[in-house]
Amino acid sequence: MAHLFATLMAAQDRWARPFGDFNHRWTSSLFRSVRPVRDVLNGTWLGHPLHPLLASGAVGILATVVVLDVLGQPAAADIALVFGFLAMLVTALAGLADYSETEGTALTRATLHGTLMVVALVPYAVSLALRAGAPADRSAPIAISIVGFVLVALGAFVGGDVSFVLGNMVNRHAWRGRGAKWIALELKTDEIPEGTPIKAKLGINDLVLVRQGETVLALHDQCAHAGGPLSGGTIVDGCIECPWHGSRYRLTDGRLRRGPAVYDQPTYEIRRGEHGWEGRRSQA
Ligand code: FES
Repeated sequence: MAHLFATLMAAQDRWARPFGDFNHRWTSSLFRSVRPVRDVLNGTWLGHPLHPLLASGAVGILATVVVLDVLGQPAAADIALVFGFLAMLVTALAGLADYSETEGTALTRATLHGTLMVVALVPYAVSLALRAGAPADRSAPIAISIVGFVLVALGAFVGGDVSFVLGNMVNRHAWRGRGAKWIALELKTDEIPEGTPIKAKLGINDLVLVRQGETVLALHDQCAHAGGPLSGGTIVDGCIECPWHGSRYRLTDGRLRRGPAVYDQPTYEIRRGEHGWEGRRSQA
């Protein structure tokens, strides 16, 4: 079954890839011009992606419409459909914000996901229009909204693939170890320059180091959003800004200050040991 679905999805790449590249250009410039709005829609304030949260609510309401229709509750079903339709629109807006900073295969797959969801709005709109006329025979609007629900279910499946198979918008540090042992830092030079990010190796982890006076601040080098190299970033207002999509993390504690990331960045303690620089994951 999994291979069948994967083949069916991959077969759409021929149109989804160029369409996704086109959409990525305008969504990216649109949302980068309104970064605070994008942060709200990404879920940066929540520490969790907002889109899947809203999507669960929208799909739940639309499933309720099917149940109410089957149970013969026309008024309740129609009201639920209005709410479900509006919930789909709000969910789409949050999804577009995530989409604007998505790349590669995840972008192509997200294009298929978004297209299915937008197409699903058409039968729902037709069903709503028919229901508004209070028809004596409701079989047509009910059948049409079920078609919409099938499209939504397919779209939700593809959306799940974007997260769970392709790892889009997941925390890049979910499995990062928390060892308490001090480990020798591998640096190209023993001197850590003041105020300039440099890369260092701590065991299997890459870190970005920034010296501020006597203190050396360190975060994991791989951005929590999509793995961008923070050591290639710039220092802005006590934060390091990722060179890929502009997420900012506070150097002192790794706290996320600007999206599109929605997770904090792991921090490390650095000290001067007997044999040189050493570090370990912050224990707090
Ligand atoms: S990789 Fe996207 S903001 Fe860092």
